[in-house]
Amino acid sequence: PQLRTIVQQMPKAELHIHIEGSLEPELIFALAQRNNVSLAYPSVEALRAAYAFTDLQSFLDIYYAGASVLLKEQDFYDMTAAYLQRAAADNVRHAEIFFDPQTHTARGVPMQTVIAGIYRACQDSPVSATLILSFLRHLSEEDAFATLEAALPHRDKFIGIGLDSSERGNPPEKFARVFARCKELGFHLVAHAGEEGPPAYISTALDTLQVERIDHGVRCTDDAALVQRLAREQVALTVCPLSNIKLCVFGDMGQHNLLQLLDAGIMATVNSDDPAYFGGYMNANFEAAFAALPLGLHHAQRLARNSFAAAFLPAAQKQALL
Ligand code: HPA
Ligand code: ZN
Repeated sequence: PQLRTIVQQMPKAELHIHIEGSLEPELIFALAQRNNVSLAYPSVEALRAAYAFTDLQSFLDIYYAGASVLLKEQDFYDMTAAYLQRAAADNVRHAEIFFDPQTHTARGVPMQTVIAGIYRACQDSPVSATLILSFLRHLSEEDAFATLEAALPHRDKFIGIGLDSSERGNPPEKFARVFARCKELGFHLVAHAGEEGPPAYISTALDTLQVERIDHGVRCTDDAALVQRLAREQVALTVCPLSNIKLCVFGDMGQHNLLQLLDAGIMATVNSDDPAYFGGYMNANFEAAFAALPLGLHHAQRLARNSFAAAFLPAAQKQALL
């Protein structure tokens, strides 16, 4: 079979997906109608036409507006079920799903509503799925602590803690104390770093927050010593090719450094980030990268292997998914 078919059909794990970023415009409009929420856009087409981003912040503004239609447990269920169905079609066998509770609790939606809806959809899916609670880094560490407290009654429903939203000016060390607490509690730790922010944020995420994976991390190639460290320590990077193009981290896919990362011996993975906003789910990300870069069968196999190696699952459960 063709490389394209092999890439489509190979079993894979998705380790970097924001569930709020899987909300398709059609579902945003359906939920707005169901909940009597008014939107700033008159139609699905007008909303989709606004998806022309210049940087991370220009995306985040629209992403948070889209999430405003989520009010009831069933809304969170429907969003998550739609993502998992789409992931299954791309042969995703396991997904570690970020959710941003502060985006919802700040609007008066109870923590219980958010977690119960997302979790129930994961339980109902044939795809293995676990949850990572992500703190918004543009908010204070105090707000992150309050969010952790509100989520702890549901701690059996999420396995890890992440850090996302506006990167520049919000370095990892801003969250040192709350991440230390999360580590004591036994959660897996990850953080977005080196998407738009400098390579130094990757280093402080590892050294100060003690994260186990770096989300994005592509800007590590601005620092040769850091590239060597990531390869030596086999730190997984959850790379999101279409996201990086849509948010202008690279000018076009031909300039993406995915191949460079793999050739440097870094444990890179491919992921969709916010598939409803960036032009595609897992296989679209693989296909776009493989079409633009001289990646071959061995790279495809390595990316699939890395995705399971970097997953927060016991070895026996990984084996059972293949
Ligand atoms: N970066 C930072 N925050 C985010 C992203 C991202 O790519 N997607 C959703 N929140
Ligand atoms: Zn992300």
